[in-house]
Amino acid sequence: MPSIETVAEPLISLRNLHLSFGSNPVLKGIDLDVHRGQAVSIIGPSGSGKSTILRCISGLLQPQRGTIRVGNTEVHTLAQEAQRIELRKRVGFVFQQYNLFPHLSVLENLVIAPRKVLGRSRIEAEKEARALLAKVRMEHKADAFPGQLSGGQQQRVAIARALAMRPELILFDEVTSALDPETVGEVLTVIRELTEEGMTCVLVTHEMRFAEEISDIVYFTENGVIVEHGSAAKIFQHPDSERTQTFLRHALGDPGRRPVVANDPYLLTNLGRYSLSV
Ligand SMILES: Nc1ncnc2c1ncn2[C@@H]1O[C@H](COP(=O)(O)OP(=O)(O)OP(=O)(O)O)[C@@H](O)[C@H]1O
Ligand SMILES: [Mg+2]
Repeated sequence: MPSIETVAEPLISLRNLHLSFGSNPVLKGIDLDVHRGQAVSIIGPSGSGKSTILRCISGLLQPQRGTIRVGNTEVHTLAQEAQRIELRKRVGFVFQQYNLFPHLSVLENLVIAPRKVLGRSRIEAEKEARALLAKVRMEHKADAFPGQLSGGQQQRVAIARALAMRPELILFDEVTSALDPETVGEVLTVIRELTEEGMTCVLVTHEMRFAEEISDIVYFTENGVIVEHGSAAKIFQHPDSERTQTFLRHALGDPGRRPVVANDPYLLTNLGRYSLSV
């Protein structure tokens, strides 16, 4: 969405981010912008710093150098945990491990934070929770417990739980990596719908075709730096860097050629991954 990019301030802006764990430099000068309503993907090899970037955006990690702005909040200056908790009310985070509360029903998993953190009434929180469960096609499991659900179903509940806080943006960290292949599609469908509705999303993903399809901007990271970024078409079809080309060749399992969509062998053999099963 280049038109948005030129007229508005980014919702998220990282500048010259440096972060080390002990003597191990993990982020070495990260610049990254996300505009309101954009879907931005971060791709790159394991250990390149993708999750660390997301944790910086949500205030879970403090960089040693550089700036992080989310809306009007200068995240790198937040010194107290209470301030970071305020930030995390606005920034949804969905992880690979769904982290649902196992002792609470699906409905209660969605109701607890809006009630305890945002002070909503039970009636209001339950009404919204049921609407969100319908949105992720999980309303029929409102009274079930997480242990009774498939991985894909739990992940959809986790997404609904993040939405229950009415966040300004959502960070997704490898949310389909732990799922059985047949349930990946149902989670991706939910994320695709969120991006189509204009929710600002930052995704770390190994689902390259999905990233290509839904992203406005793609960042390729390696060894703590952004090697290149650009539109999904640019990064997936005409990457500048040899490193990006090599990574995509391996990740896509083909020479990087984008198949014709109408006759796309990947889509034809993976149709099940893109349909919703409940
Ligand atoms: N809490 C931590 N303490 C020490 N080192 C850490 C910590 N978290 C991450 N690291 C290191 O930082 C580097 C980047 O990790 P990060 O999790 O950001 O990578 P990633 O790109 O998300 O990888 P993956 O694709 O495997 O999830 C790795 O070398 C990792 O071992
Ligand atoms: Mg990671």
